Amino acid sequence: MSAPVDATSTAAWAKLTELKNGLVPDLRGWFAANPDRAQAFTFDAADLHVDLSKNLIDDEVLAALIALAEEVKLTERRDAMFAGERINVTEDRAVLHTALRDPDNVAVDLDGTNVVAEVHKVLEKVYDFADRVRSGEWKGVTGKRIETIVNIGIGGSDLGPVMVYEALQPYVQDGLSARFISNIDPTDVATKTADLDPETTLVIVASKTFTTLETLTNARLARSWLLSGLKASGAIDDSGEAEAIAKHFVAVSTALDKVAAFGIDPQNAFGFWDWVGGRYSVDSAIGTALVVAIGRDNFADFLAGFHAIDEHFASTPLGENVPALMGLLNVWYRNFFGAATHAVLPYAQLLHRFPAYLQQLTMESNGKSVRWDGTPVTTDTGEVFWGEPGTNGQHAFYQLIHQGTQLIPADFIAVANPAYGLTDGDADVHELFLANFFAQTAALAFGKTADEVREEGTAEAIVPARVFSGNRPTTSIMAPALTPSVFGQLIALYEHITFTEGIVWGIDSFDQWGVELGKQLALKVTPAVGGDEAALAEQDASTQELIRYYRTQRG
Ligand code: F6P
Repeated sequence: MSAPVDATSTAAWAKLTELKNGLVPDLRGWFAANPDRAQAFTFDAADLHVDLSKNLIDDEVLAALIALAEEVKLTERRDAMFAGERINVTEDRAVLHTALRDPDNVAVDLDGTNVVAEVHKVLEKVYDFADRVRSGEWKGVTGKRIETIVNIGIGGSDLGPVMVYEALQPYVQDGLSARFISNIDPTDVATKTADLDPETTLVIVASKTFTTLETLTNARLARSWLLSGLKASGAIDDSGEAEAIAKHFVAVSTALDKVAAFGIDPQNAFGFWDWVGGRYSVDSAIGTALVVAIGRDNFADFLAGFHAIDEHFASTPLGENVPALMGLLNVWYRNFFGAATHAVLPYAQLLHRFPAYLQQLTMESNGKSVRWDGTPVTTDTGEVFWGEPGTNGQHAFYQLIHQGTQLIPADFIAVANPAYGLTDGDADVHELFLANFFAQTAALAFGKTADEVREEGTAEAIVPARVFSGNRPTTSIMAPALTPSVFGQLIALYEHITFTEGIVWGIDSFDQWGVELGKQLALKVTPAVGGDEAALAEQDASTQELIRYYRTQRG
């Protein structure tokens, strides 16, 4: 890929700096002066209705942000990604997660292969497997139907599947459930298998590389648990091990040779490709647990949702391109206001794992200090993404967002129709819930002046503590309901927001070298933890002391 443009030396950056220096945030005044402000800054992308009007922007700022996108060649880079160019420079890979959700009549060529056709071949295999599990045709070694899927993976091979499984609970087939084991803390395997029946459990080992220590260790633990359980109940003896593994273990990976070496029949393995990043893989075969849980039609809707936003991102002019605008707004706050964090606050309990998923998507992608040509970045990069569902967050950390000393841009997400509609007397509980969604963004934007506080009869000494400055920026994202399609749309929205920010900063948003050092050191430290004095002596003084403490405390 051609060298990144240094965003900070563009004319648009200079303009944005000037605009920021002259900006006196005044959302009250801006809304009063322009009755069309809400409409002017609200955009639709597929089923997502996105209101940017409570951000600290005006037409001039937006125009300068769009000019910045043009100067850093956002649309060219975007087109290069969709076309399969090797934009993951440090790993020399194409970045084609968008091909995972292309309909089968689309062709994307990579080195002479139409990858979309490959995608659909694997999808069919996954769908067929899922159909057999869901119908009961696929049976465990003792002839019982599968009731529980255990997905073993970590990072992108866990966070996506678990998040979507939680979010699409209403779509999960009765009689089937899924569990997700990720942590190498043995507690994870122990507690999640404790009440399971091996005869009705199917394990999916999900690992792009099939080398990840946590996943392979947990897969071996699960294999021991399964085989010993089946033997203890007399279901199998030693001669039945291979059949039991074949009926109770499947794998998802790009490294099918390693799957076979682990002892899983490649017939029972679903592949994907190195051009799908782990954190962009929930819509690949990594979603196999989901396909089993929600079925092929719902998964197809989920993919169609991603695709709808891909099309929007690929073809909508920047001035109405929601992922591009949201990414540019994030740059505005990160680089011109110094905002170090960004909150994502879903008003949908089913989205309770969405912020955790976004942490990997955004922070593994954009937590970089060098650009894709190896030169240092010229400005701050990746924000810390975090969040919890409203209204729980309101009773925990919103205080700081409302009255703290730092600016925390926040995305509020809500759907009009709840998955579970309940009433409390005459009250529609979803409406009580959404009243909070609407109220919070208004409170953050418009605040409460000292005079308004006084009018409530507040004692003068307490007035300052009860003033809300307002001008705390939020974006509101609404959709009709949390369907598989809408959820696919939401995920794709954040993928492309992340991409947009990465292009402005000139970084490779698709590598993750920053996780390597800790992994390497853990391998070196392991013998020391186990009592090898020579290995211990090689550690730094602090690590030696900590390991000695551990060894004296360990029973
Ligand atoms: O944390 C690093 C990482 O490589 C992630 O990018 C990835 O999602 C995760 O580990 C799991 O990797 P794998 O799917 O290869 O087991």
